[in-house]
Amino acid sequence: MSLEPKDDHDHNGWLQEKDLSPVEKGYLSTLMWIDKRFRIVDYMELLENLYYKINLQMPKSHTEQYNLDNKFWYWYPLYSLGFFSLLAYIVAAFSGALLGFYYVPGAAGGATGDPSAAYQQITFIMTDLNFGYMLRSIHRWSAQVMTAAVFLHMLRVYFTGAYKEPRELNWLLGIVLISLTLVFGYSGYLLTFDQLAFWASQIGVEMALSIPLLGEWAAQLVFGGFTPSAATIQRMYLMHVFLLPFIVTALIAIHIGIVWMQGIAEPH
Ligand code: HEM
Repeated sequence: MSLEPKDDHDHNGWLQEKDLSPVEKGYLSTLMWIDKRFRIVDYMELLENLYYKINLQMPKSHTEQYNLDNKFWYWYPLYSLGFFSLLAYIVAAFSGALLGFYYVPGAAGGATGDPSAAYQQITFIMTDLNFGYMLRSIHRWSAQVMTAAVFLHMLRVYFTGAYKEPRELNWLLGIVLISLTLVFGYSGYLLTFDQLAFWASQIGVEMALSIPLLGEWAAQLVFGGFTPSAATIQRMYLMHVFLLPFIVTALIAIHIGIVWMQGIAEPH
């Protein structure tokens, strides 16, 4: 009797007859159960074909073209700055998610001269919460390390000429990423709603107002008015914990996906 499945998605009999360990059987039957319902094997093959088709269109790298064994440049430490940016982003995301359990985005109290609810909550995190000082410090440091790493990564890409054909689109995506990294940092900086944050928001409002024609509309949209208020914190909070994490995570995944498809550039 043949051990091959009758068609691509009928595996049951075939699995019974194979001499497999329980772990292998468990793994395969789970895979087959899913495959029978969603035909994942077909889709995986489709993706694989696509991957090879794209790769065939890529120009050969210098090392491949001249069959050079010397791949010393692979090990330049500066080639890890993109990965280092990702690492800092992951640390910031985890510590930020934990801070989210204790932070309150409120401006109440500010108008009467008392500290705002947001500021009081930060004080609570720093002085009373167990490990709160450490948690907030990890979040602030990782955010700053990420900004610096992304900037240095961009310099590395520029000075090794890695932005040139065929990597122009990933460079443009990088411009979007560094801009969003700065917006991430700015919106987070405003969340403490202390004096520094208050006046930094006021500077943001003035900058928005300086845009010709659309200035007032932009200030209303981004800051919720012309002076920092509860509406400002609410908007920054929404941007910092809801919009940006999803957008930046998706864009980083696409960015690294493109590096995976194109391979790392060699110095020009
Ligand atoms: C959130 C920020 C970013 C992350 C997490 C990130 C991640 C990465 C990673 C992991 C690589 C692989 C090579 C390496 O590590 O150097 C890479 C390559 C690359 N990145 Fe970024 N990147 C970011 C921002 C940027 C920026 C701001 C630019 C430029 C404007 C940029 C342009 C590129 C280009 C062109 C490559 C291909 C380089 C090559 O093939 O040698 N990236 N990125």
